[in-house]
Amino acid sequence: MTTSFTGPERHDHSEHQPEPGEVARGGHGSDLINLGDGHHEGGGQLLERFENPGLPEHVHRLGDDDPAAARRSERQVASLFAVSMVATLLFVISYIVVGKGAIVTLPLIGPTKALHVSLGVTLGISLLCIGLGAVHWAKTLMSDTEVVEERHTLRSPDEDREGTVQILTDAAESTQITRRPLIKYSLGGALGLFVVPLGLQLVGSLGPLPHDNLGVTLWDRKLNGKGRRLMRDPENTPIRLSDVTLGSVFHVLPEGIDDVQNPQDAKVKAAVLLVSMQESDIKNAKEASWGIQGVVAYSKICTHVGCPVGLYEHTTHHLLCPCHQSTFDMTNDCEVIFGPAKRRLPQLKISVNDAGYLVADQGFQEPVGPSFWERA
Ligand code: FES
Repeated sequence: MTTSFTGPERHDHSEHQPEPGEVARGGHGSDLINLGDGHHEGGGQLLERFENPGLPEHVHRLGDDDPAAARRSERQVASLFAVSMVATLLFVISYIVVGKGAIVTLPLIGPTKALHVSLGVTLGISLLCIGLGAVHWAKTLMSDTEVVEERHTLRSPDEDREGTVQILTDAAESTQITRRPLIKYSLGGALGLFVVPLGLQLVGSLGPLPHDNLGVTLWDRKLNGKGRRLMRDPENTPIRLSDVTLGSVFHVLPEGIDDVQNPQDAKVKAAVLLVSMQESDIKNAKEASWGIQGVVAYSKICTHVGCPVGLYEHTTHHLLCPCHQSTFDMTNDCEVIFGPAKRRLPQLKISVNDAGYLVADQGFQEPVGPSFWERA
């Protein structure tokens, strides 16, 4: 047996044979409605007496018998939904007006961002009032009569299905939503408006557009009018072409990276992998010309979602990203030969300066890292 609440019925508690859909009582206790299984004689609902499982005596509420009290409850529910609407509007206003850097000091918490506080408080009030309004509505106006419904086979017969539609219709009537437009429209307003902050959070909090942030790295900025030298990472020492033996691999950063304003950010974008191969192994003419004697340099930032591509396979000259196994062919301008990455790794054009050190001739010619919506 399952139990649920439904129906706005008022019932005479005197002893009599119950009719279909009417309350049956187990001697004492609350009003109970048997909805039947729809398979009984005549296709109607069969009402049965059953033992009271111990439910307390049903107590009629003030609003059940007093229309003035019901109207008062209606106004209270609508007021809660109205407060929710106001809080939602304040959420939107806070989102637009409160500065991201503004700080407030709260007791027990200390200094914290004013934007977070205002968004949290207004959203909390908005949700709370919708919840309180719904609970108050259920407690004071919706029917609190307990019903009992028998379980039935998975596919209900047509009579039951029609009965379900009838129950839903009755339930709609039971909540009084069809008869109380004030609640209907205020609830619709509160829930409808609540979509706005969700949308704002979704669209407005995706972070700033990358613009040319990934297109410009420290390699683009000359040092004393010259291309920056390639420095070993983490030793921070320059690399001579003669140091790069066949098959060797270097993790590289631009010279002077620790002197810039945000070194960590600069390192993330400018990280490079330097590899030495037989010049004859390189199939791509542009790759060969942008390197020197089979020594080539490529961005280490995976074009899938930006993990560092650091696994170099000497015999195949494949470069592997450990995150999702994107594989780049270093003999063919790092084209993608496997995995989810869609673009080849950007190459850094290098040469040798008068002192024999490797230097970058220019920055990357395309943004490093993952694709984003401003570029395919
Ligand atoms: S980040 Fe490299 S394959 Fe996903």
